[in-house]
Amino acid sequence: LVDHSRTGVLAGKTVVITAGPTREPIDPVRYISNHSSGKMGYALASEAHKAGARVILVSGPVALSAPIGVEVRPVLTAEDMLQEASSAVDEGCDLFIATAAVADYRPETCAGDKIKKSSDAMALSLVRNPDTLATIAGRDDAPFSVGFAAETTDVASYATDKMQRKKLNMIVANDVSTPGLGFNSDNNAVTVFWPGGQTSIGPDSKTNIARQLVAMIGEHLGQAAR
Ligand code: CTP
Ligand code: CA
Repeated sequence: LVDHSRTGVLAGKTVVITAGPTREPIDPVRYISNHSSGKMGYALASEAHKAGARVILVSGPVALSAPIGVEVRPVLTAEDMLQEASSAVDEGCDLFIATAAVADYRPETCAGDKIKKSSDAMALSLVRNPDTLATIAGRDDAPFSVGFAAETTDVASYATDKMQRKKLNMIVANDVSTPGLGFNSDNNAVTVFWPGGQTSIGPDSKTNIARQLVAMIGEHLGQAAR
C-alpha cells in the first residue's frame, strides 16, 4: 500500500461528504425516503482518502461498510444530516461534497403510535426539509462545495441552475432515466459543470468515476486556492 497522505491531490485537506438517503419518520414503523444505495458517496470517500485527505462521511442508512480510513457519522433524517454536516464543517473543512439523496419533505408530525388504517384514503401533511448543501455552501466561511444532481429531464439546465442557486464551485449531474446507471447500479455516467466549463465522465464503474472526480475536484480546488 502506498501512503498518499503527503503526495495525493487532496493531501492535507479535510473533506466532508454526505451520502445515502435520509429517512423521515411517519410513525414508529414507517418512513418516507429516496432511492439511494450510497455507493457513489462511499466510493468518493474512499478515493478522497486514497488521495491523501482526512475524510468524514455523514451517512444516511445504507448497507455499506465504512471505507478504510474514513470516519463515518451516521444520521437518519435531513435535519440530523444538516446538524452533523454543519458540526463537521465547523471543525475545519476544505472541501464539502454532497452526494446524499435527501428527502425534500418530512411529515409535519411523527405519530407516537403506529397509525391504524381506517378510511379508504389518507393524506399526509409534509413540510420542507432544510438543504444541507445550500446551507454549507452559503456560509461566509464556505468550503469548496460540490453538489450532485440526479435528473430525469433537461439535465444540463437543471444542474447548472442548482449550481448557481446554491453557490457551488462544481456540480456533478447524472441522468437517472438511463437504464442500468445511477441509483442502485454499480455503474454511472456523469457530466461535471463548473462556472466556465463542463466535462463528461463514463459510463464506468462508480469506483472509476469517483477516482476521476477526485482528481478533477482536486485540480479545481488547487486553482481556487491560488
Ligand atoms: N441537497 C441537500 N439537502 C437537501 C436537498 C438536497 O444537501 N435538503 C443536496 C444533494 O445532496 C445534492 C444537491 O443538493 O448534492 C442537489 O439535490 P437535488 O435533490 O438534485 O436538488 P434540490 O435542490 O432538492 O431540487 P429538486 O429535488 O427539486 O430537483
Ligand atoms: Ca431534492
